[in-house]
Amino acid sequence: MTSTLIAPSMLACDFSRLRDEIKAVEGAGADWIHLDVMDGHFVPNITFGPNVIAAMRPHTDKVFDTHLMIAPCDPYLEAFAKAGSDVITVHAEAGPHLDRSLQAIRALGKKAAVSLNPGTPESVLEYVLDRLDLILVMSVNPGFGGQKFIPAVIDKVARIRDMIGDRPIDIEVDGGVTAETAPLVTAAGANVLVVGSAVFKGGSPENAQVYERHIKTIRATADAAHV
Ligand code: DX5
Ligand code: ZN
Repeated sequence: MTSTLIAPSMLACDFSRLRDEIKAVEGAGADWIHLDVMDGHFVPNITFGPNVIAAMRPHTDKVFDTHLMIAPCDPYLEAFAKAGSDVITVHAEAGPHLDRSLQAIRALGKKAAVSLNPGTPESVLEYVLDRLDLILVMSVNPGFGGQKFIPAVIDKVARIRDMIGDRPIDIEVDGGVTAETAPLVTAAGANVLVVGSAVFKGGSPENAQVYERHIKTIRATADAAHV
């Protein structure tokens, strides 16, 4: 049985303690670190950019899973690569040249990924499948943590799983993932879960057993349903 990868979203941590939070969540069993970059234009919120990611980079060897919710994205790909991202995700809705953006990410030596908003059909993936290492399916409208999971994406995940066939492409789900919703998406074919509030809620770097308990519980319900 494949094990689900859990990628805590640092959006839900205490931003004044990024180093401590990264170390805590790594110790708690995180597989990847999910980094939400927002520009106040593509999404109605602003977070952080490449300098902050570069500042986090020395504090863990975990995969940096950088989710760019910015438009345009092409002018900034190199900066996010140099900052230490391992996976770079762009949104299909962020510009007219998805194929070009994905080529640029791979040319920088990084894993290339595309994200789809809840209202975007999976058909946008059809002609770029061979350029993809990961598909990020949004299960909330991007911009904020702590939102409610949108169940319509479960079918979308299943259709994407069929589309990719034997290609070695990860399917990641982001938004409203909890111990209750995680098994719904792993049953449909997802293998990487972004989890923000459901990891960090009620914990702190001093009380990281809370993070550990949350990650363990979500991983267990996700793995039990994994296809
Ligand atoms: C939303 C971000 C998510 C967010 C998830 O725009 O892309 O990564 O942090 O947070 P939760 O798990 O709280 O929905
Ligand atoms: Zn995200």
